[in-house]
Amino acid sequence: MPPRIDWAAYLRRFHREHPGITEDLLAGARRDDVGTAYTWMTAALAEHPGRVIDVACGSAPLRPLFDKADAYLGVDVSRSELARAQLEQRGPLARASVMALPLSDGFADAVMCSMAIMLFEPIEDGLFEIARVLRSGGTFVTIRPVSWPVLLADARIGTALLRGLHRMPALPQRLTRRAFARMQADAGLTVVADHALRFGYPLETHTDAQRVVDALYLPRVSEQRRRDAVERLARHCGRGMQVPVSIRRTVSVRNRVASGT
Ligand SMILES: C[S@@+](CC[C@H](N)C(=O)[O-])C[C@H]1O[C@@H](n2cnc3c(N)ncnc32)[C@H](O)[C@@H]1O
Repeated sequence: MPPRIDWAAYLRRFHREHPGITEDLLAGARRDDVGTAYTWMTAALAEHPGRVIDVACGSAPLRPLFDKADAYLGVDVSRSELARAQLEQRGPLARASVMALPLSDGFADAVMCSMAIMLFEPIEDGLFEIARVLRSGGTFVTIRPVSWPVLLADARIGTALLRGLHRMPALPQRLTRRAFARMQADAGLTVVADHALRFGYPLETHTDAQRVVDALYLPRVSEQRRRDAVERLARHCGRGMQVPVSIRRTVSVRNRVASGT
């Protein structure tokens, strides 16, 4: 058995070395019908969403989409990610873990969590904390990477990546729909919508290929293999070429809390 991955240490280093890399990829991955995964995510909320907490905000790419919120707060553990968010003049921001949000019970009308729910260990504790800060009837929206849907034409890109890396990108948790819904139910959240879409990131230049590989969590992959994956991917560069970025959006509602409990 290979040694266990120390995900906490890996993620700390990864986000220190690549602040904003998730935004760099996701902001460029689009669909004609919904735009980016970020605009798709915020479309799940009302036009005036009230007080919004962006948990694990990273470089806070959601911030510009919340100009009509009564209040926005981005929370993340990574100093480097928060520094990049600040550079973009996005805020307010707080450095904190999802496991201990600096907010009172029921403070938020909405909690957003983009591309991070699968990183929380233990995820159940993170969900309880998110449910705690949400008011009754408040909305929780997550997006996370998934391997489906893809197009038949995407197989060439997937094969090029796999041949270079020799293994699939890793994540601390692979959440099935059912398991995620059950965990949320235990925390007091009811899933009301759940859907996956394929976005396409343009693969036109060598820099695009580099960005795709840089955005992947690859704790067991050597530098040489990463470089090989970039070169193999770059061979497919061209007008109209895309790397598939499949994303699942889950929308949930905080259950009514009986008064006095
Ligand atoms: C893949 S990035 C997503 C960033 C941003 N939400 C986006 O979509 O571009 C994951 C983020 O989760 C943050 N993170 C990981 N574990 C966390 C925790 N326990 N509490 C708060 N943030 C965490 C990382 O520092 C990183 O910024």
